[in-house]
Order: sequence, then C-alpha cells, then structure tokens
Amino acid sequence: MGLTTTKKMFEAAYNGGYAIGAFNVNNMEIIQGIMEAVNETNSPVILQVSAGARKYANPIYLKKLVEAAIECNEKSGKDIPVVLHLDHGPDFETCKDCIDGGFTSVMIDGSKYGFEENVELTKKVVEYAHQRGVVVEAELGKLAGVEDDVKVSESDAMYTNPDEAAEFVKRTGCDSLAIAIGTSHGAYKFKGEAKLRFDILQEISEKLPGFPIVLHGASSVPQEFVQMCNEYGGDIPGAKGVPEEMLRKAATMAVCKINIDSDIRLAMTANIRECFVQEPGVFDPRTYLGKARTAVKDMVKHKIVDVLGCAGKA
Ligand code: G3H
Ligand code: 13P
Ligand code: ZN
Repeated sequence: MGLTTTKKMFEAAYNGGYAIGAFNVNNMEIIQGIMEAVNETNSPVILQVSAGARKYANPIYLKKLVEAAIECNEKSGKDIPVVLHLDHGPDFETCKDCIDGGFTSVMIDGSKYGFEENVELTKKVVEYAHQRGVVVEAELGKLAGVEDDVKVSESDAMYTNPDEAAEFVKRTGCDSLAIAIGTSHGAYKFKGEAKLRFDILQEISEKLPGFPIVLHGASSVPQEFVQMCNEYGGDIPGAKGVPEEMLRKAATMAVCKINIDSDIRLAMTANIRECFVQEPGVFDPRTYLGKARTAVKDMVKHKIVDVLGCAGKA
C-alpha cells in the first residue's frame, strides 16, 4: 500500500477507540526510526512535515525520503498505510504546493485569525484539496507555545468553543479538527499539575458525532530523556508533557490523531548527548545518528503499543 488519506484510518480509529500517531519528520533517521516502529507493530502512520521542516530539509528531499520509505516497504512486502501530511500549513499557497506535490493530507492552520477569516481560509483550502482527493485538517482555538515563528503566550491560549467548533466544521467542510483543550507545543507544557479539559472534548464530540478530532502538542516528554539530556550536559530543567494516561483516554474518545514532535527531539538529543559523553572518541555521525534512530524507533513503538492503541491496525 502506498500513500493514502486519513479517511478510512480515522473512521476505524474512531470506531475502535484508538488514535493514529502523527509524527513530525525532518530527516532520514527520523523517517527510518518511525517506519521501523510501524512495520514491527503493523500500525498505520501519519508522517507530517511542517513549514519549518520544508525549509530545513528542502521539500523535495522530504518527499523523496517518504517515497523511499514506501518503496522499501513495497520491496519487503510490508503493507502499511502511510499518510503524508502538511503540519500547520500557514497559508493557502503552502497547502496548494503540498497538494500539487503529492501530499495526501494538509492542515490549514487559521487559528491565528478571527473566526470568520479562519472559516474563509479553511473553505478555500478544502475546496482546492477535495477536488484533488486530498483531506484537510483545520484548527479552532489557540494552543500555548511555539509553532514555527508564531509564539502564543499562556494567557493568549484559548480553549475551543464547542458551538463554534460545530459551526466551523459545517461551514468549512474540513475533514478533521484540531482543538485546544490544554495541550501546548514544546517540552514545557505544564508548570504545576497537568490538566486537560476532557469536558470540552466530550461536548465537541456530542455536537459532532463521528467526527475526528486532532490533538496537537501531545508529547509526553518522557522524564527518562529529560534526565539523560540534563545528565549529559543539557539544560532543560522542569520539562513536562501530557501524561500518557490522558493521551490514552483522549484516544478512546473522539481524538483520532495525536501529534508528536518534541518526544522525537528529546529521544534523539538524549541519546546523542549520552554518546558524546560516554564515547568521546566517536566522530562518525553514523554512530550517534544510528543510536538516535534506534531511540526514535523504541519511543514510537512504545507510543503505538501503550498509548495510541493502533498496533495491529494497519
Ligand atoms: O507544531 C509544531 C511542530 O512541533 C513542528 O515544529 O515548526 O519547529 O518544525 P517546527
Ligand atoms: P509536541 O510539541 O507536543 O510534540 O506537539 C507536536 C505538534 O503538535 C505538531 O503539530
Ligand atoms: Zn501542532
């Protein structure tokens, strides 16, 4: 199976009480680590590319790396559905570029605009995408944290209003909706106790029965990686993520897509730092990037099996 959209994936995830992992990809080792994990667990997967990733790696490189992953799977007889998704599409042009370039899913992130402007922009992307068989994720509500160059402070973060969510989906025709219920991007999600507004998620799902919801900012920031980073010369004290039990609960509700980027960064950095300190003679990038790739694989496998519940659902 080559690239596919999220349509059937989300339908099965919604009905089955699990979620699909959407992992941010920026280079070859990340893609390989994720693909090894999904192959070993027979799981569907969403590989997502941000505008920042396109700028870093070059859009053509990323597309070809994903194509390589699919070709490798075909050669070895693996039948894993893979979605190539644009994460946080900032404008119509970027979405169009990805749709024209073979992405099967795009996100238009109009959450920085007012309601009406967000509706208009999302509608425009939906119209262009649907004519070409591509699905669209939109966002309503504001997450705290950093996305590309846009920084949203905690006081500016805004929970999604359930009535607005229902109206937004009806008017835009989007295929899935990212909502704000207390998660945030990055490795510092909560100062005190972690809290998510499951009541808002529940209300939204009642107003939009069967409709797939997306959770951004869903890294759990494993403390083992935070400790390793800090022990081996890093400086990220107090980093804290969403408790895995909360993600599990969200996956049994209407959340069909769970976005994970920071945990990949942490897994790689912790293991590269450890290698540099424990093996100071190493200067072959394949040694430390190889360790980083294995760490990504192990982390993704853990998410699939113990958190998302999508193992065996390919
Ligand atoms: O939501 C943001 C993702 O973590 C992507 O991050 O824009 O730095 O690639 P990035
Ligand atoms: P994290 O920073 O929690 O990994 O969130 C990633 C994300 O939402 C990508 O869109
Ligand atoms: Zn996000």
